[in-house]
Amino acid sequence: MVEIGTNINLAKDLLLRGELVAIPTETVYGLAANALNEKAVLSIFEVKNRPFFDPLIIHLASIESVKLYADFEDERLLILAKHFWPGPLTLLLPKKNNIPYLITSGLDKVAVRIPNHAISLKLLESISFPLAAPSANPFGYVSPTEPNHVKKHFGNRLAYILDGGKCEVGIESSIVGIENDKVCIYRLGGLSIEAIEKIIGPVELKINQSSNPKTPGQLKNHYAPKKPLFVGDVKKLKQKHHLKKIDLIYFGQDEIKLDDYTNIYNLSETKDFKEAAVNLFKFLRLADDSDSEIIICSELPDIDLGRAINDRLKRAAR
Ligand code: TXA
Ligand code: MG
Repeated sequence: MVEIGTNINLAKDLLLRGELVAIPTETVYGLAANALNEKAVLSIFEVKNRPFFDPLIIHLASIESVKLYADFEDERLLILAKHFWPGPLTLLLPKKNNIPYLITSGLDKVAVRIPNHAISLKLLESISFPLAAPSANPFGYVSPTEPNHVKKHFGNRLAYILDGGKCEVGIESSIVGIENDKVCIYRLGGLSIEAIEKIIGPVELKINQSSNPKTPGQLKNHYAPKKPLFVGDVKKLKQKHHLKKIDLIYFGQDEIKLDDYTNIYNLSETKDFKEAAVNLFKFLRLADDSDSEIIICSELPDIDLGRAINDRLKRAAR
């Protein structure tokens, strides 16, 4: 079985040789390879069973190094970068020629971010190439927030898992770019719209273009457990499915009758969105692996990180 450890030098050597290494970030674990080595990048797609039309995010350690691979054509994106990097923000920037089209699925923009995780930043600072890293889960499944999640999925199909503990944000980065001179959000994530708008004013939401192959993270039926998941009014859903064994995931709502569930997970007793984001994928995995038949999950208030959490839940739901 693949080793889980904290040896940054080993991770570096393996990446130099074109191997796959799982890396921790503050959002979720990534399945990383040298972004400039097309053979290594190909194996990311292979191991994840990911379609080639789904482009990869590249990870770097500084804005200076980002500029070697992409252009900050638009001042607003540079302002966001300076404000929120390292952090859960991915920017779509015009790519330079040194980034293979395999990374961008043929698009002229590349997705870039500087992750906020000490170990991975150290690793990124020690290498002279960007790391392409999608979430380290099979395509379409729930993202991993702990090293063991990655190990469970991929066993020996990667060379090493760099252990950075549990992810502190727990939900993928927010993806932001420019379209028709407007700042657009393509994926809701660990950085709230409110936080982004505070810095650069109103943004446009482009998160529901499920037919748009530009951003498969927008696909309905993404981030999904294997078991049926129903999201909405818990009481009504419970009535509808009362003959089934149910795992319940909820959010600080004490008025729910908590008996007769197989398992109950509270995303946050105090209704703290950050805590809920940290717990979300772990609970979806636990519920998926339990002996219940279905999962019911309450919808969160549609503000702050609640929006990104609802977005993931709806895409994971039947
Ligand atoms: O938090 C994150 O972003 C994590 C960590 C590991 O950094 N990564 C992640 O990668 O979530 P992935 O591949 O699971 O999701 C990346 C999303 C995909 O939906 C992809 O379609 C979109 O970013 N994307 C990547 N490059 C793009 C591009 N050039 N244009 C439009 N969308 C892009
Ligand atoms: Mg993913």
